[in-house]
Amino acid sequence: MSAEENKTKLAEAREEAIDADANLQLIPLFISYKMGIFNLSHRIVLSPLTRTRSYNSIPQPHAALYYSQRTTNGGFLIGEATGISETAQGYPNTPGIWKREHVEAWKPIVSAVHEKGGIFFCQLWHAGRVSNYNHQPNGEAPISSTDKPISKHPPPRRLGTDEIPTLVSDFRAAAKNAIEAGFDGVEIHAANGYLLDQFLKDQVNDRDDIYGGGLENRCRFPLQVVKAVAEEIGPHRVGVRLSPFTEYNDCIDSDPQALGIYMAKSLNQCGVLYCHVIEPRMISLLQRCDDETSHFSLRPIRKEFGGTFIVAGGYDRNEGNEVIANGGADLVAYGRLFLANPDLPLRFRLDAPLNKHDRSTFYTHDPVVGYTDYPFLHPSYGQLSSSLRCEEK
Ligand SMILES: Cc1cc2nc3c(=O)[nH]c(=O)nc-3n(C[C@H](O)[C@H](O)[C@H](O)COP(=O)(O)O)c2cc1C
Repeated sequence: MSAEENKTKLAEAREEAIDADANLQLIPLFISYKMGIFNLSHRIVLSPLTRTRSYNSIPQPHAALYYSQRTTNGGFLIGEATGISETAQGYPNTPGIWKREHVEAWKPIVSAVHEKGGIFFCQLWHAGRVSNYNHQPNGEAPISSTDKPISKHPPPRRLGTDEIPTLVSDFRAAAKNAIEAGFDGVEIHAANGYLLDQFLKDQVNDRDDIYGGGLENRCRFPLQVVKAVAEEIGPHRVGVRLSPFTEYNDCIDSDPQALGIYMAKSLNQCGVLYCHVIEPRMISLLQRCDDETSHFSLRPIRKEFGGTFIVAGGYDRNEGNEVIANGGADLVAYGRLFLANPDLPLRFRLDAPLNKHDRSTFYTHDPVVGYTDYPFLHPSYGQLSSSLRCEEK
């Protein structure tokens, strides 16, 4: 090919790429979005997914491959629930971020995501009463807002009022560590029946101190955590996950709509980057109920929050496009679909077939099986834009 022909071909290819990008902007999930200081190239977020492959709480090198497989240039990823302290753990082999060894182990994993242009937040987690003696230091009882147990777990120890500031400091220190490990920010896990949710919800929180009773008191500790973390790393690097409607881990509130609205208003005042809420239709972690017994919507909560609003729970491609198009959310977090389809943004872009998840491997401990072995689309499937190509490293 002559130099002139080569130049023409390159110009044509460039024009085609520009056209393809312009078309992409017509698909709601692919309209680029500015989330504070972060420029996102699409709206498909990796939902936090516990994968129990961090042996003895230490993140492992194989996590670099797992997250990097799910990274696109300008894509937003939320890491798996990560313990903030020794008392935070509730399952085997979940990662931590409370000691130096954790920070050092996270670094190459975060780097692998950054190398591909991803934006990566660490989900800060304390399991509270969803734990067992063998996950607690010295075999002690797990801690909670209450001493009421949930099934298959030992009775928790009700935290004293004077112990709360230490937990707030633990969250703060964990956030500092996450930034040191290279994460772009943190998501505070106040959902799914774990410690912070155990304070938020009135069917669990039976305290009579300043952390129990009315909405303001029940939200006090979670909001103290948010404020401390925001003070430490800046509110522009802080997101919060809520599930007021979900009953997972026996964590129920009698007025979830009021709880969600109160939290959204308060988070707004804190100036945090995003609010990430699980849909009311998710009656449990993975169980979707579409019989309209759940007549609630996240709209009133979204209305109260001025920052980025992320929704999660049971979304597919069409519903994701719909919720973005009708203004119900800015971003959509995908759990099981992203777990089983490392190249989910590409598949959505091409409307390609999806792999099915294998539930039996969700919480197993193999570094590969059910983790990094889900297949990618065959390279010949469609013309791929480099920004959305997810290549295995
Ligand atoms: C294997 C697995 C692990 C999960 N781990 C977490 C977690 O660590 N933190 C969290 O907030 N949610 C967790 N979830 C919930 C998901 O983030 C998401 O809310 C849920 O899967 C519903 O979304 P989906 O219908 O897109 O899968 C987990 C879900 C699954 C399937």
